[in-house]
Amino acid sequence: MAVTKEQVRECLAAIKAPDGTSLPQTGTVSDIVVTDGKVFFSITVDAGAVKAWEPIRKSIEDKVKAIPGVTSVMIALTAERAGRGAQPGRTSPAAAARATAGSGPTGVPGVKSIIAVASGKGGVGKSTTAINLALALRDLGLKVGVLDADIYGPSLPKLLAIKERPETIGGTRLKPIVRHGLTVMSIGFLIEEETPMIWRGPMVMSALTQMLREVEWGDIDVMVVDMPPGTGDAQLTMAQQVPLAGAVIVSTPQDLALIDARRGIAMFQRVNVPVLGVVENMSYFLCPQCGTRSDIFGHGGARHEAERLNVPFLGEVPLDMTIRETSDAGSPVVASQPEGPHAKVYRAIAQGVRDRLNGRSGARPAPKIVIEA
Ligand SMILES: Nc1ncnc2c1ncn2[C@@H]1O[C@H](COP(=O)(O)OP(=O)(O)OP(=O)(O)O)[C@@H](O)[C@H]1O
Ligand SMILES: [Mg+2]
Repeated sequence: MAVTKEQVRECLAAIKAPDGTSLPQTGTVSDIVVTDGKVFFSITVDAGAVKAWEPIRKSIEDKVKAIPGVTSVMIALTAERAGRGAQPGRTSPAAAARATAGSGPTGVPGVKSIIAVASGKGGVGKSTTAINLALALRDLGLKVGVLDADIYGPSLPKLLAIKERPETIGGTRLKPIVRHGLTVMSIGFLIEEETPMIWRGPMVMSALTQMLREVEWGDIDVMVVDMPPGTGDAQLTMAQQVPLAGAVIVSTPQDLALIDARRGIAMFQRVNVPVLGVVENMSYFLCPQCGTRSDIFGHGGARHEAERLNVPFLGEVPLDMTIRETSDAGSPVVASQPEGPHAKVYRAIAQGVRDRLNGRSGARPAPKIVIEA
């Protein structure tokens, strides 16, 4: 049975903070994200109390790991600390991003267009879409880079089965790794797997800034950025530090995911980043045995939502074991089965993205490819 947030919350209720209060009552625990047996949340603590919390973090991790069905747990202790010259207390992410970005976003040398693949909600398939979209853009003859901006839960090491570490150039700059013709970079290449990462708002920004500006990206037509879920620091940093050519919003068809997708769209529009379009992931299920199609999540929701919000609709990706298995095996479906039906779907989406990047919005109707069993 799938692990639920409720189970995690119940487990946390039995744990005490250093002052003896039950953990959920301290108000320090963030929203709990459970994806596929992986549990992630953060605990915001006072900067001076991090040491006292560390053993508690470890014990929470062990207890949550013991919940049946949990495969991994990542708990970040986040501490807010006033930056130099800042007011004590919280610095707004937007203000911090502006401070590091100067008066406005400057480009990354050699990189022509940067696009973000985002969603409001976790686990809807951003990383899967980002990597296959990148491979499909490559198939269209473009030079493509991929930046894994999900510093809390980086995906690229697994999606591309990358174990090596990037080399440094002259001791200060990093050489990105090249796989399947893509130039890629992830914080996951630099840290051990499962290492709990402690990021404060300003650290999120500097990690992303480094990955953008201290990596020798070389000449790239399109950089695809795999965003973490939500509309927080990382999204704002990206939107404000780099001139994003646009954002691709991934959503599943359910109403709840659509509400989050709407939030994501609104965030990019607020910072004047054009929404290149919406991709409906896990759109429908095609039984590999009998070929029967089931719209398990109420297929079509994202298309309608895109129409309603007047943003382009880019295409539908079915829920299919092949997509998942190839990703898990480190060779995403567009790379491992380039002639297969899924690669076709992703290439049609990539064409829509390229057209819109080239300013040919509306040049092509939203691709509708139906995969036959
Ligand atoms: N179309 C699909 N068919 C089958 N499985 C899929 C599909 N898209 C994604 N998945 C699987 O769903 C899981 C979540 O996908 P993914 O990691 O891409 O989501 P995400 O939105 O990037 O998650 P997070 O918010 O944690 O970053 C993965 O196991 C992935 O292989
Ligand atoms: Mg992801």
